[in-house]
Amino acid sequence: MKNKISNIKVCAFDAYGTCFDINSAAKLVKNKIGKSWLEFSNTWRTTQLEYTWLRSLMKNHRDFWKITKDSLDYAMKVHSIKPKYKKELLKLYKELEVYPELKKTLLYLKKKKIKCCILSNGTPKLLEQLTKRAQIEKLFDSIISIEEVKIYKPDPRVYQLVTKKYSCKPREVCFLSSNSWDVVGSRSYGFQSIWVNRVNKIFDNLDFKPKKTISNLIQLKKIL
Ligand code: LAC
Repeated sequence: MKNKISNIKVCAFDAYGTCFDINSAAKLVKNKIGKSWLEFSNTWRTTQLEYTWLRSLMKNHRDFWKITKDSLDYAMKVHSIKPKYKKELLKLYKELEVYPELKKTLLYLKKKKIKCCILSNGTPKLLEQLTKRAQIEKLFDSIISIEEVKIYKPDPRVYQLVTKKYSCKPREVCFLSSNSWDVVGSRSYGFQSIWVNRVNKIFDNLDFKPKKTISNLIQLKKIL
């Protein structure tokens, strides 16, 4: 069928923004932050990602939790948020809300005998906490952190972690990410990547385009 992607052995999921709602931390304290909570959350996320890219280029690796704290400090200054909220925001970042359709999607893939893993910038500990809290940890065959190579996405060595782990070819991996740059990086490596475009964003101009675009994870059923 034209809409389908065939011969997939592994589905690899990005974590932040794809499985877990990165804005849920700021949203839960929006009555304290005020109406710029989403702008603040966007600054936090954008800075966090910039720090991952910069540290990879500088060859000065620090783990994702350190980067998350550093970028939070920066974003709080930019948006004049009182320092007393820092602790609460960090605690909530360890408890990000899971997207409600994820569990059903994983159960569907399990039935189809497709292996599922997470491939994320997050530390093993952060990813374990998030998946346990959402009660989905057993639905993943493995949780792969970039800490194994200590370089951030979109370095090809990160995507290679999946093909090495499952002894498969890049084109046998279906990668799902809501981050357009992560879709680009993984397409460049050779994955059959799907863009989870939840909020109608414009895709990047970086040579590579997603194999398919969906607006939430359960739509994967139409493709696999
Ligand atoms: C991750 C970030 C990029 O989970 O969303 O790797």
